[in-house]
Amino acid sequence: MRVLVTGGAGYIGSHVVTQLLAQDHQVHVIDDLSNSSIEGLRRVRTITGQEVGFTRADLREKDTLTSILRSFGPDAVIHLAGLKSVSESVVRPALYYNVNLNTTLVLLAAMGDAGIGRLVFSSSATVYGVPSELPLRETSAVGMGITNPYGRTKYMNELIIADHAAAHPDFSAVLLRYFNPIGAHPSGLIGEDPAQIPNNLAPYVTQVAVGRLPYLQVFGDEYDTPDGTGVRDYVHVMDLADGHVAALSHSDAGVTAVNLGTGRGTSVLELLHAFSAVVGREIPYRIVDPRPGDVAAAWADVARARAIWGWEASRTLSEACVDAWRWQRQNPNGFSAPPA
Ligand code: UD1
Repeated sequence: MRVLVTGGAGYIGSHVVTQLLAQDHQVHVIDDLSNSSIEGLRRVRTITGQEVGFTRADLREKDTLTSILRSFGPDAVIHLAGLKSVSESVVRPALYYNVNLNTTLVLLAAMGDAGIGRLVFSSSATVYGVPSELPLRETSAVGMGITNPYGRTKYMNELIIADHAAAHPDFSAVLLRYFNPIGAHPSGLIGEDPAQIPNNLAPYVTQVAVGRLPYLQVFGDEYDTPDGTGVRDYVHVMDLADGHVAALSHSDAGVTAVNLGTGRGTSVLELLHAFSAVVGREIPYRIVDPRPGDVAAAWADVARARAIWGWEASRTLSEACVDAWRWQRQNPNGFSAPPA
């Protein structure tokens, strides 16, 4: 298949592109490199030995997008481009609504003009807000209790895509609701390279382990969870990437939401201990106040992805820690320096 990947140079994108190429799909990436690096795509070429087309552009530039759709002629689009910092979205909400909504609106219009009717969208478990039940099923309540503009843009994108699909009876859209992606490609050549101090747990832990940050702040230890710290569903980014490849097989008209997770919950302290075991020493941490807007626990029901595509996460938490640590050790400053 010919696949256009928006945001394909980023953390998830580079792994998705790698797995698409491994399955002999032809890929073109459009990315503005605002939170990613062209070096990531170079390394994808090194890993796969295959070419990947690339255009540096803002997806909101409809003329550029239209000319890529015309010349590349994709069968499907995987739409990952967007801003993703929860804390930044609270400070700059208009920017988040502008970028995350207009990219999708322009993309849908350009796909319509070009007659392309298959979309896989990068959504998030954040759309479930405060969980109405556990595990979270695709039929669980969405939209209630989302605490930040970033999360609301994901939810609004789901609504926009569903309305678009309803208005275009042949359109097929998959909304992939990611739980918590962690890990890296086993080569150690690509991985997560946050531009700023990380907001998320896994990149923070790896940066403490490598000495870039002094200690982890554990946000609260009095939640109603087995050890009092927050529980999440950490899914290896390679499994997540394979989930996108599986989603490409989906051609049913209409919109289908699918959770990508492991179905297992892991606490902050469990993740920290798993990572310490891989690194071979204790990683310093301090318990601090809970982070506003955090929920106690969230993990996925993964039956739907298994039932419709036969996809399930196969890599363990320990493998994710090994791979994340290999990436961080080989690239202590991310993509800004050649691999060690
Ligand atoms: C967060 C976002 C979510 C977004 C997702 C993207 C919030 C409230 N939610 O999810 O909208 O889709 O990232 O990956 O920000 N933790 C610490 N110390 C840290 C960082 C995190 O203890 O330095 C804890 C958190 O309290 C939580 C767990 O680790 O219990 C995971 O946090 P994080 O990686 O930020 O993911 P989410 O909060 O699940």
